[in-house]
Formats: sequence, structure tokens, C-alpha cells
Amino acid sequence: MTGYSIKEFDPPNVEDDQFWDNFYSFYTKFVKDIHPNDPLTPKPRIVKSLKDPHPDYHINHWLVYTSDKEIVGWADNYISKETHPAYDTNKHVAGCDTVILKEHRHNGLGTQLFRYHLKIVKKYNRTIIQAGTSEESGHNFLRKFGGKEAIQGSENRLQMNEVDWSLMQQWIDDGPERAKEVNLERFVDVSDSDIEEYCVIYTETMNQQPFGELEGRVKETPDSRRQSEERHRKRGGKWTTLISREKNGRISGLTEVFYYPDKPSMLYQNLTGVKEEYRGKGLGKWLKATMLKWISEEYPDVKTIVTGNATTNAPMLSINQRMGFKEYKSGSEYKFQVEELEKLLD
Ligand SMILES: CC(C)(COP(=O)(O)OP(=O)(O)OC[C@H]1O[C@@H](n2cnc3c(N)ncnc32)[C@H](O)[C@@H]1OP(=O)(O)O)[C@@H](O)C(=O)NCCC(=O)NCCS
Repeated sequence: MTGYSIKEFDPPNVEDDQFWDNFYSFYTKFVKDIHPNDPLTPKPRIVKSLKDPHPDYHINHWLVYTSDKEIVGWADNYISKETHPAYDTNKHVAGCDTVILKEHRHNGLGTQLFRYHLKIVKKYNRTIIQAGTSEESGHNFLRKFGGKEAIQGSENRLQMNEVDWSLMQQWIDDGPERAKEVNLERFVDVSDSDIEEYCVIYTETMNQQPFGELEGRVKETPDSRRQSEERHRKRGGKWTTLISREKNGRISGLTEVFYYPDKPSMLYQNLTGVKEEYRGKGLGKWLKATMLKWISEEYPDVKTIVTGNATTNAPMLSINQRMGFKEYKSGSEYKFQVEELEKLLD
């Protein structure tokens, strides 16, 4: 790795505008390489997000510089703290990302960054590293270091101009016919009276997605939900949720989307979940079709909806494919045993 240097990077303590220009130029090259037709997240949001790290993770970042001080690589790792609500199920796992710009690959930089990851991961006694990729170079790199594919998935995208609106209207009309006396309610901040119950259904259905061999699970609590609402708000994000409420007042399903006015043509669809006892009655389709109709009215600039699904999630894929979602990029998450990785890197 002659001619390069790797430096630790602590975003909350970097005020230098020139640095952030350099960093944003790296970010732009990286995004243009893997998503050439996508709009960029504007610099202010990138800076704001990095300067406001999630308080429940130890987060470490490194940057790779050329001798001309151009940033050409990046690595970060996320290690849950004891304050993290899912600490019990995640305390042996570390999430690691490593990126080297195309022109600078095959110089040993990725390997060197893996050594940095390893040092931190061992410091916090993690035994498993997980890392994902959708790029061929990433698959090759992760396999070279003994990564075992834990799950396959894909980023799926829906183009708003390809939606079959008559089918969506049919799902909306069928909803109350099949699920009698159920109502849909939309919110940004979950109400104080629903928050406990909402966090239970959110945690439960999120963890019922196929995880393959992936380790670590999700836990939403009233505190973590309020914290996330605040963090999205601070970045200008609109996080909208639609729930189904049964006649007895219980929440039976949910779907949620994220919209950022600074990148108005893309919207992100996150979890859709229906409690097991209410499945197969059209609630998932009703929730998603109603949300889609609302998106088209509320955010007419949205052209593309982005989501991610495991390839084995048959019910979700069945709904999404009929909505018009198509595979944009497939990818995998890999899992490493820290002990084995250490031997390989030695
Ligand atoms: C995905 C999920 C939300 C669907 O909820 P639901 O209320 O059962 O959905 P619906 O009844 O509206 O529709 C489900 C459709 O999937 C189809 N389906 C169910 N299992 C299927 C399978 N194994 N293969 C193919 N299609 C399947 C059903 O036939 C149904 O379509 P139909 O009504 O036209 O026959 C629910 O299964 C769930 O909460 N899963 C766990 C969380 C999750 O994985 N969420 C997705 C990740 S974001």
C-alpha cells in the first residue's frame, strides 16, 4: 500500500470545510460507481448524519488517503453498546463496512482495513463480524477472507410510472371486505397510548423476516422509537407509518416509509409486518396499496420506491412483485468467525 495512508476519522470533531468537500467528493465517486443513475444525498445531510452518531453503538471510522490527500477509501464498524435495546442478542456481533474506490483496488488497502476492523472487534470481545455487498469485487474480497454467505437478498425498486393502479385500488377495496371492521391509521410519531404495543409488534414482525444464518436481532422499545423519531426529524426526514387496527383496538399490522425532501425522487420502504394471527387476510396488500396511493398524492415528485428483501421472503415478494417492484441489485451478507479471520490475516 505504498503511497497511501490510513487515518482514523472522528466526524463529530471535524469542522474543516475543506475536509468535508474532500469527503463528499469521495462519497460522490463511490455512489456514481455503484448507482450511476441515482440522485446523490446532498452534502449537508451526509455531514449532519456523520456528526450525529447513534448513541447506542461504538462507531469507528477510517479513511484512506493518497499522497495528494485525496480520500479514496473508507471503513467503519458498528458495535452495540450495553445501552442498545438488542444488546443481549447482538453482543457477540460487529457490523463492518469497507470501501475502496475502483482505481485504487488491489493495493492491499482492503486487507489493511480489515486489520483495523479486527483490532476494534477484539477490543470489544466480538466473535462474529458481518458485512454485506452487492458488488462482484465485494463478494470476491469477503470470500477471500473466509466469509460464509449468511443470507441472499436484493434491493428491489418500484417505478411509480409502472404501477398498476387498478390492482392497487382493488387491494384497497378488498381490504375492509376481507378484514371486517378493521381501520387503517397513519402517523409520524406513534402516540403515547400506542407506543408500547407498537414496539412489540414492530420487534416481533421485524424478527420474523428470514434471517438465514445472520446473527443479531432487532429490538424496538418506546425509548429507542422516540430516539429514532428525533434523529430522523433532525435530518429532515419524514418517517410515515400506516397501521391496521382491529375492532378490539389491537394493532394487527404496519407499513413504514422514509422520505427526505432533499432527495425528493426516491422514497424508502422499510418494514411491512402483520401479526401472525392476522395474516392471509389481505392486510399486507391493503396496507401497502393504501400507503402507495398516499405517497403518489403527498409526494408527487417521488419516481422510485426502494426496498430490500431476502430472496426467501415469499409472502413479501409475492406482494411486491404484483405491485411492480423489480430486482435492481442482488447482494449477500457474509459472516466471519473472528478467530478464523485473525489466523488468515496473520
Ligand atoms: C409479509 C407480510 C407482511 C404479509 O402480510 P399478510 O397480511 O399475510 O399479507 P396479505 O394477506 O395481504 O398477502 C399475502 C400474499 O402472499 C401470498 N403468500 C403467502 N405465502 C406465500 C408463499 N409461501 N409463497 C407465495 N406467496 C405467498 C398470499 O397468497 C397472499 O396473496 P393473496 O392474498 O393474493 O393470495 C407478513 O407475512 C409478515 O408480517 N411477515 C413477517 C415480516 C416480514 O417479513 N416483512 C417483510 C419484510 S419488510
